[in-house]
Amino acid sequence: MTTLVTGAAGFIGYHTTLALLARGEDVIGVDNLNDYYPVQLKRDRLARLANEKGFSFVEADIADMDALNEAVAGAKVTHIVHLAAQAGVRYSLENPAAYASANLVGHLNMLELARHTDTLEHMCYASSSSVYGGRTDLPFLETDRVDRPVSLYAATKCADELMSHTYAHLYHIPLTGLRFFTVYGPWGRPDMAYWSFTQKIIAGKAIKVFNHGDMLRDFTYIDDIVDGVARIVTTGQVGARDVPHAIYNIGNNHPEKLDDFIAVLENVIGRKAVREGLPMQPGDVPATYADITAIRKDYGFEPKTDLATGLSRFVAWYRQHFDV
Ligand SMILES: NC(=O)c1ccc[n+]([C@@H]2O[C@H](COP(=O)([O-])OP(=O)(O)OC[C@H]3O[C@@H](n4cnc5c(N)ncnc54)[C@H](O)[C@@H]3O)[C@@H](O)[C@H]2O)c1
Repeated sequence: MTTLVTGAAGFIGYHTTLALLARGEDVIGVDNLNDYYPVQLKRDRLARLANEKGFSFVEADIADMDALNEAVAGAKVTHIVHLAAQAGVRYSLENPAAYASANLVGHLNMLELARHTDTLEHMCYASSSSVYGGRTDLPFLETDRVDRPVSLYAATKCADELMSHTYAHLYHIPLTGLRFFTVYGPWGRPDMAYWSFTQKIIAGKAIKVFNHGDMLRDFTYIDDIVDGVARIVTTGQVGARDVPHAIYNIGNNHPEKLDDFIAVLENVIGRKAVREGLPMQPGDVPATYADITAIRKDYGFEPKTDLATGLSRFVAWYRQHFDV
């Protein structure tokens, strides 16, 4: 079994790759190591993966079809976990072209690669809770309307789901889209709030609290996500009907108020935050909350990590990694 993991140097890609390797599978990692956040963190993750048996890595941009074909030349890829993307809601207002390249052209290239890989059994790809836009009727269900995104990032993820459906319809490629809900944990992403809050609280600096803390997020611990992704990609499809494309929410099913989240983090760090209340940011959504009935039923997905446990693990890792 050989799995191609795109975005292998990224947060979710790193952990997913480790889990697949631990099961004795071969993994080809692809990543362009872009500098959206410090490249050293991506290199540090890769250095850990390089020690593992069965791992190979190719630095390539998924928007470059030739480079992508070259990365897998000669390999019998049976599974794909496609996680490479330009992530981040707020940055999509600053640099929309990065999203068009990685998330639109890149995703299309991945579908083309899947189409021409005869040995392929199943491809999972990353979508996002952001496809639900500014909905306030909770929880979010896979059958809800997702045609009113409020950021370009979200629009590209909606487009990925649509392109995937078309490819599954035309070429019968088994595809599964996973709508991740605010994933956090060790080796995480420096652009996300849990990371910058931790950094600032430890340093005694003020944290920016958008919408004055009146937000709801379904924070999902990385190990729970990886357990789901690794299981789904190898199990294959169980829920798809006429067209072999299925989409699932993968979240904690337990949303937290931002204020409560900060209180848990203060507790874990052992220091009070200095808060700067600010209005809602453009592109942001007031709430996320995953209904996980479908993924529970089809794959037995069950999130196990509560926020205090997950944040304790993250903060312990952060303190050790940065020696603070
Ligand atoms: N972390 C979350 O909370 C979350 C939530 C919803 C969706 N997602 C999605 O999950 C996936 C993984 O996210 P993550 O949190 O690990 O982010 P990440 O930024 O840590 O990982 C993405 C990786 O993809 C690589 N990449 C970006 N563009 C590329 C390109 N054109 N070619 C090759 N590699 C490229 C980056 O260098 C990075 O290492 C993304 O598709 C993201 O949109 C994440």
